[in-house]
Amino acid sequence: RNSRIIDRKIKSTDSSRCILKLLLSFCGNVMCLKSSFLSFYSFTQKYPPVKFLSEKDRKRILITGGAGFVGSHLTDKLMMDGHEVTVVDNFFTGRKRNVEHWIGHENFELINHDVVEPLYIEVDQIYHLASPASPPNYMYNPIKTLKTNTIGTLNMLGLAKRVGARLLLASTSEVYGDPEMHPQNEDYWGHVNPIGPRACYDEGKRVAETMCYAYMKQEGVEVRVARIFNTFGSRMHMNDGRVVSNFILQALQGEPLTVYGSGSQTRAFQYVSDLVNGLVSLMNSNISSPVNLGNPEEHTILEFAQLIKSLVGNRSHIQFLPEAQDDPQRRRPDIRKAKMLLGWEPVVPLEEGLNKTIQYFSRELEHQANNQYIPKPKAARMKKGRPRHN
Ligand SMILES: NC(=O)c1ccc[n+]([C@@H]2O[C@H](COP(=O)([O-])OP(=O)(O)OC[C@H]3O[C@@H](n4cnc5c(N)ncnc54)[C@H](O)[C@@H]3O)[C@@H](O)[C@H]2O)c1
Repeated sequence: RNSRIIDRKIKSTDSSRCILKLLLSFCGNVMCLKSSFLSFYSFTQKYPPVKFLSEKDRKRILITGGAGFVGSHLTDKLMMDGHEVTVVDNFFTGRKRNVEHWIGHENFELINHDVVEPLYIEVDQIYHLASPASPPNYMYNPIKTLKTNTIGTLNMLGLAKRVGARLLLASTSEVYGDPEMHPQNEDYWGHVNPIGPRACYDEGKRVAETMCYAYMKQEGVEVRVARIFNTFGSRMHMNDGRVVSNFILQALQGEPLTVYGSGSQTRAFQYVSDLVNGLVSLMNSNISSPVNLGNPEEHTILEFAQLIKSLVGNRSHIQFLPEAQDDPQRRRPDIRKAKMLLGWEPVVPLEEGLNKTIQYFSRELEHQANNQYIPKPKAARMKKGRPRHN
């Protein structure tokens, strides 16, 4: 009887061991699942690779307008170089999506703030890009464009003075207005209509430059001024009526590519990564006078249309519309100063940049189609009642 009892005990101990083992293996599996889930989660949370910089080399950098087209690419570069980046944007034309891949990173901060209001933070460098840049955007609310470029720039210069930061102003080739001199070098004073529809932007940027040099002379603030020429690339606004975005949209949607006049007018476009490299090297240089950043390689509008049509590879045809009388015939930067003093020049070939932009636009079209919104290319911008190429 005793041996039977011992047998039963042994069996019951065996079965408890079994249950215990089962429980343990179940827990093990749960732990395994949990750790796989965690590693999957951290995998999905992965950020682009970031260099490690020592405390001495790591800078605290503010980018106003950092959620916009150029600003978000600049954010990528400075983050990947290992700096601490604070983006300030009021999301007028910028989008969180442009910088979402950095959200949560220990070196990154995004602040929803309008530069027309003062800002108090501690930084070493300020890239001041906040301003609508395309004509439909800056003409939408000219008073706000003026405030952003004047009061906004004063606020950022005030901040630079307070914390001893260096400020780089994203100025524009539009300070040269409708130029009487080709190509335009930095000594040209420009030909701007102070009361025309573009004046809110052109004159706003001219005053912003004036403010930079007043703060430099009177308060000793270190300033850098980049006069940026036409730039294109991913994250640019799809329907802002500019020639590159219009042609790409038209070609992707199988619509005719609209060329005003014979298409013999020339334009020069730089790819956004070239501009970003130029901005960073200007910021870190000792050149305080204005520097042109643009691609001097000129192409006719017709060449652009044909190239984009062939890169997209569909059957859209080119449609010629009546010539615009005051469409500038040539626009081209003189970049000898940037070459000589910064050792900078654009390196991305037009076709390569266009291919990347076309890929981005088609992904965006898909994304927007899924959200029931199909952007239409805008008619070329009107000037004196006539359309023209931007
Ligand atoms: N893209 C070009 O071809 C070009 C050419 C010449 C100069 N620029 C200059 O470069 C800068 C960036 O241009 P972009 O093409 O990236 O334009 P963008 O419109 O994509 O970016 C501008 C950013 O500034 C933000 N912004 C506007 N007003 C603001 C305010 N009051 N407070 C805070 N944020 C504000 C917008 O929301 C946006 O994110 C601009 O200053 C523009 O004048 C651009």
